[in-house]
Amino acid sequence: MKILVINGPNINMLGIREPGIYGTQNYAALIELVENTAKEAGVEVECFQSNHEGDIVDKIQAAYNVFDGIVINPAAYTHTSVAILDALKAVSIPAIEVHISDVNQRDEFRKISYAGMACIKAFIGLGLNGYKEAILYLKEYLENK
Ligand code: DQA
Repeated sequence: MKILVINGPNINMLGIREPGIYGTQNYAALIELVENTAKEAGVEVECFQSNHEGDIVDKIQAAYNVFDGIVINPAAYTHTSVAILDALKAVSIPAIEVHISDVNQRDEFRKISYAGMACIKAFIGLGLNGYKEAILYLKEYLENK
């Protein structure tokens, strides 16, 4: 089972950016958590981060027939990108949305999620642990599909 973890813009700035909202752990710590979770769960994982919308669309397209599941935090593109929504729909790979912060308790514009419309589930406001929950949920979902 192969899972692709996609992170959008500014997630590479974790630990530096707004620590009161996103915490003090950096992107390397997130990758370590994801890789350890995947190892313990016995699934293969690849992590991808980009600050560019088109690169994220390209990565989702390239996942077709390669990955069984996607965990995605599109970051700011969550609230703007129909292109990422359409890419997820195009490949129809089961996908889970993750947000480190609770987007429903912040600005009004963060309440809209385009990517979420193509996702089977969302883990929101659980900090980095949301990625762990998402991988474990996705594994269970794919095994029982
Ligand atoms: C985020 C929430 C988004 O609103 C924001 O633009 C991000 C990160 C989160 O993980 O909480 O960059 O997706």
